[in-house]
Amino acid sequence: MDRDIERTLIPHDRIAKRVKELAMQITADYAPTAAGDLEITIVPIMTGAMIFCGDLIRQIPIPIRIGLIMVSSYPGRSVKSQGSQLLGNRVGDIRGRHVVVLDDILDSGGTLRTVVPALQQMEAASVKSCVLLRKDRPAAHDVHVDYVGFEIPDEFVVGYGLDYNDYYRNIPDIVTLTKDAIARHA
Ligand code: IMP
Ligand code: MG
Repeated sequence: MDRDIERTLIPHDRIAKRVKELAMQITADYAPTAAGDLEITIVPIMTGAMIFCGDLIRQIPIPIRIGLIMVSSYPGRSVKSQGSQLLGNRVGDIRGRHVVVLDDILDSGGTLRTVVPALQQMEAASVKSCVLLRKDRPAAHDVHVDYVGFEIPDEFVVGYGLDYNDYYRNIPDIVTLTKDAIARHA
C-alpha cells in the first residue's frame, strides 16, 4: 500500500488535532440551555465519513444518537463526481431533533445539496453540516457548510476513510496516489 502513496497532504497527528477542535466547537454550539441538555443526532454519510465520525463523536461529551445515510457520488473507479444519489438511510425518526451531518470531503457539493434537504424534509429541528476536507474549487464554496476541518488543493485524495474504488480507507493520513496505483485499480 505504501508504494501507492504519492505524497502525504495531512498527517494523522494533524488530523487528530483538528478533529478535537471541531469536536470542541460542536460541543460549545450545542451547550445545555435553560431548558436542559441538548441532544444531537450525528449522521455520517457512508462510507467515507465512518472513521471521521468514530474519532469525532468520542470527543463530544453530550447525548448523541447516530443515524446512517448512504450516498453514491464517486462510484467505483471514478475520480470525478458522477452526481449524487441517495441510496438509503438508517436515520430513524428525527422529527424535532438537532442533526449534524458529517462527510469526509466537500467537492462538487452535490452530496450536501442532496442530503441536507432530505434530512430537513424529515422534520429535523435543525440540520448542520460538517466536512473534514473542502477542496479548493468554486463549486465547493457555493454550498453552505457549518464546520470545515481543512481546506485542500483540488486533487483526488484517499485515506482516513476516503477511498479509491473502495480501497485505501485504512491509510491513517490524507494522501494522494501515484498514477501507477490509479491505473492499477482502473
Ligand atoms: P461532492 O458530492 O462532489 O461534494 O463529493 C462528495 C463525495 O464525493 C464525498 O462524500 C466523497 O465520497 C467523494 N469524493 C469527493 N472527492 C473525493 C476525493 O478526492 N477522494 C475520494 N472521494 C472523494
Ligand atoms: Mg462519500
